[in-house]
Amino acid sequence: MIRVAILISGGGSNMRALVEDMTGDHPCRPVLVASNDPAAAGLAWAARQGIATCAVDHRAYGGNRAGFEAALLEPILAAKPDIICLAGFMRILSADFIGHFAGRMLNIHPSLLPKYTGLHTHQRALAAGDAQAGCSVHEVIPELDAGPILGQARVAVLQGDTAETLSARVLAQEHRLYPQVLRRFAQGHRTRLDLP
Ligand code: GRF
Repeated sequence: MIRVAILISGGGSNMRALVEDMTGDHPCRPVLVASNDPAAAGLAWAARQGIATCAVDHRAYGGNRAGFEAALLEPILAAKPDIICLAGFMRILSADFIGHFAGRMLNIHPSLLPKYTGLHTHQRALAAGDAQAGCSVHEVIPELDAGPILGQARVAVLQGDTAETLSARVLAQEHRLYPQVLRRFAQGHRTRLDLP
């Protein structure tokens, strides 16, 4: 059984999609849901599924990123994960932290990378007048939102779209894409999955 730890910062809708897919003949099972926010709603949901959870409040560390990461790393390493999935995790992680999981840390990002790394992706796609938007799952490397792309899903940008309507349409595709990419990744596939 391949052990998966999932890091969240909020509602954890992507985490829920991953957890709900890790059943039956899926090679993976969730072993930990961790967050930088003790109030993250996804933690309560995960706990109700019987999944171990932990929270390390990054605000308790002020600007001490190394202290926060050391505190977060401890329960993650204790869970002995084989794969780490960042799912709506909103803290930038250092090269040291990522180095613990090199080649086995995934992230979902709400844009068609390499376009729009960073924040406010939907606003930027709208401002650019893009006809399409979407989401990407990529391997995490120290450079932000820049690792090898493992999958993408596209949506049309519609007349009258706002950042809210577009993000909702993209989020629905994230919930399709991430579980399929995790399955393939766990089975050793590294070729890109482009969802129709
Ligand atoms: C999603 O748009 C995801 O792409 C981004 O965070 C947002 C919320 O994710 N990384 P979730 O509902 O907490 O999974």
